[in-house]
Amino acid sequence: MRTQVAIIGAGPAGLLLGRLLERTGIANVILERRSPDYVLSRIRAGVLEHGARDLLNQAGVGARMEAEGLAHHGVAIAFHGAQHRIDFHALIGREVMVYGQTEITHDLMDARTASGGGTIYDAEDVTPVDFDTPHPHLTWRKDGRTHRLDSDFIAGCDGFHGVSRASVPAAAVRNFERVYPFGWLGVLVDRPPVSDELIYAAHDRGFALCSMRSRTRSRYYVQCEADADPANWSATAFWDELRRRLPAAAAEALQTGQSIEKSVAPLRSFVAEPMRFGRLFLAGDAAHIVPPTGAKGLNLAIGDVARLAGALSEHYTERSDAGLDAYSVQALARVWQAERFSWWMPTMLPRFPDLPGFEQRMQAAEFAALVGSRAAQQAMSEIYTGLPMASAESGRVVSRR
Ligand code: FAD
Ligand code: DHB
Repeated sequence: MRTQVAIIGAGPAGLLLGRLLERTGIANVILERRSPDYVLSRIRAGVLEHGARDLLNQAGVGARMEAEGLAHHGVAIAFHGAQHRIDFHALIGREVMVYGQTEITHDLMDARTASGGGTIYDAEDVTPVDFDTPHPHLTWRKDGRTHRLDSDFIAGCDGFHGVSRASVPAAAVRNFERVYPFGWLGVLVDRPPVSDELIYAAHDRGFALCSMRSRTRSRYYVQCEADADPANWSATAFWDELRRRLPAAAAEALQTGQSIEKSVAPLRSFVAEPMRFGRLFLAGDAAHIVPPTGAKGLNLAIGDVARLAGALSEHYTERSDAGLDAYSVQALARVWQAERFSWWMPTMLPRFPDLPGFEQRMQAAEFAALVGSRAAQQAMSEIYTGLPMASAESGRVVSRR
């Protein structure tokens, strides 16, 4: 088999890259180690930056998001009882879109099926080979046979535990990492959200977040031990703990129910540099992880593939490698901005075990600095609602709206 771009991973990064390439006439095949049902069963992110929303619309996969997603003009931050609304719309005239990663994945899968794009699910032992030569290829096993796909380029969109980054010689990659001493336990429930907008809550017992997927489906998180087993959290324990950490009005309004998903996510900041190794390009979680507090992981993956699709389109249509050559440096500049923001949110919101008194006062001062300054709130709103996104057609940065 031969294609132009071989994509490893059918998460949002791989599926969206496939979609963007397809629309500029670039042939691609996606290899995914899991089944479609398994991929769709993963409950993850929920908040889209305005540029990510625009890109999904440009890619022709935004119709359901526009019909069913919820545009939010602000978020609430509750700090040990005090509550403050960050009004994105009033501060900078922007909004975010609340629409689950699962739904985006669904929409991208449906579009790929409709267009006849090739996706090979349940591919075992996918291995990128010779990506430091002009003849890269992938091998994998399926149905007891070994297969091979030759390509011009390989896109490693296979998440943090994927094979792409792991295939690069250790000396060629530099990793930057911070692991946080806690995780967060997420619960999905078919009950109306406690509030029209998200609530990020700091409390002596730990951080909590009230989010949602629709007007009838809510997503709640509480900070927990890094190695917590979700099975050890009974429904009652979760709801009691969430209520304790929320402002009184929200605690009272909370509608509880049987969870339809419950999982613990570790909190980690991680960046691998560079994001290109010869003809292998990393995108999304394959190259970087952010702690979820800033709602940036999915948005970063979308930003990477927009840039990569633009650079590949430049290669094939304009015979220019300028975008591919600049990919790593330009993508990393954006990644580090998201890393900074996603690191800053946990400096203010969660309870760190044994945090010395000075740092506790710093957390309070951080919140006061935010609440007390319109400029600080504007700065937060700019990054929360969206870092500039590259055009998927040219590789150039499109203007901020
Ligand atoms: P992934 O979604 O991880 O997709 C990678 C795909 O590659 C997967 O389908 C995987 O099965 C496949 N794959 C892996 N290895 C191989 C292989 N060897 N061969 C073939 N295929 C392979 N972000 C937020 O913004 N907010 C959140 O609340 C949030 N919650 C999260 C909770 C969890 C538990 C996790 C893990 C992440 C969360 N994130 C969140 C981050 C966000 O979901 C990710 O940033 C996003 O999924 C990145 O998309 P991706 O396509 O790069 O990677
Ligand atoms: C969600 C997750 C986040 O990390 C966040 O900051 C906002 C929303 C969510 O899952 O809905």
